[in-house]
Amino acid sequence: MKKIAILTLAVALGSFFITSCGGNADKKATSEKQETVKQTTPEKKVEKTFVANIENGKKVYNKVCVACHMTGVAGAPALKDKERWTEIAQKDMKTLHEDAINGFTGKHGVMPPKGTCTDCSEQDLYDAVAYMLKTAGVTAKE
Ligand code: HEC
Repeated sequence: MKKIAILTLAVALGSFFITSCGGNADKKATSEKQETVKQTTPEKKVEKTFVANIENGKKVYNKVCVACHMTGVAGAPALKDKERWTEIAQKDMKTLHEDAINGFTGKHGVMPPKGTCTDCSEQDLYDAVAYMLKTAGVTAKE
């Protein structure tokens, strides 16, 4: 009788360890999967919803973006180039915001990440993009 009790206990303990190990292995697999996802998509994806502050956008534009976007240096679309901006506005606001944050290489040239403004926040960049679209006279969908 005692033997059976010990055996039952051993079996119970054994299956407990197996299930708990199994659980950990699952968790590890999941975190590895997340790691892979992170590695294949290193670019910043914007999850937050932003509301444009055009006044701030103007300040940011005049401080940084103006260097390339006023006259169209290095293949940048000049603000008065409505044709280019009409094409750009085909993309939605979220994509344009992400391109401003991460940088963007198109057929005309290279837009550096954050337009080289390392201390610009995501909000600053959103505002600047909104200001530029407005000044160019185009509207991108949200
Ligand atoms: C060093 C020059 C440079 C600076 C500074 C710069 N840009 Fe650009 N930007 C570019 C170039 C070049 C392109 C066009 C890339 C192409 O279409 O080939 C571009 C394109 C863009 C686009 C369109 C992206 C798209 O998906 O078509 C947006 C939006 C933009 N810039 C926003 C900004 C903002 C906001 C700033 C300031 C914070 C800024 N840029 C500063 C060079 C610059």
